[in-house]
Amino acid sequence: MSIVNELIYGKGYKVLPISNLKLFNKLRSLFLKRMGFKDIKVLRKNIATMSNGEVNKLMINLLSFNKASEMMADSCKDIISKLCGREILVQRRLNTIFNLPGKEQRRQWPHYELMSGISPFTFVLWAPLHDLDDEGGVYYYEQKNSLNIIKYEQKKGLVNSPIILEMMHNKKPTKLKYGEVIVFNPFILHGNVGFNSNLARIACSVRFQSKFKPLFQKNTDFFKYYKLT
Ligand SMILES: [Fe+2]
Repeated sequence: MSIVNELIYGKGYKVLPISNLKLFNKLRSLFLKRMGFKDIKVLRKNIATMSNGEVNKLMINLLSFNKASEMMADSCKDIISKLCGREILVQRRLNTIFNLPGKEQRRQWPHYELMSGISPFTFVLWAPLHDLDDEGGVYYYEQKNSLNIIKYEQKKGLVNSPIILEMMHNKKPTKLKYGEVIVFNPFILHGNVGFNSNLARIACSVRFQSKFKPLFQKNTDFFKYYKLT
């Protein structure tokens, strides 16, 4: 099945190789440099024992890294151009996500991206900055099942029903290797589970859509025009 069909009519998500890994490696190197580290494993180990406040402080170092979203888009330009063409609206700032191991750490609530006000024409790229060897990844719920839950909640007038809360415990994250990316549509329910490790999980994500599709609540404060190189 083609990426377009898989993303729109099929499962709604797909794991794919990052075609320009050289550029993605550069993105990771620049990210490490701004964080003051040379090695991703050393950074992960340090972050694993930090308080949330310390992690926030570290993230301030990324404020000047404002070319990261274009770099990620260009690293995956074959995927983006198949879904949206070369003229896109891309999230201004790449999201960098740190997940700390341990039962008490915050977990991403099961959600779908449309909840945050992006348009139904938006897609998300999510890639770890290292291999995912433990449960420190994200689980994804196939489109058919995601839509059934969304419709069920809408019919019952519920938000975060027991079905959603159960997902926080019984889902298995998708194992990705460094150099792979998952692309998913904004209707796919996803979240993460607690995990045990002495290393934190670091990943990045970026949202994009065709410039010819309408924007809804998220406007040009959130997106910028970009033409893939
Ligand atoms: Fe999300």
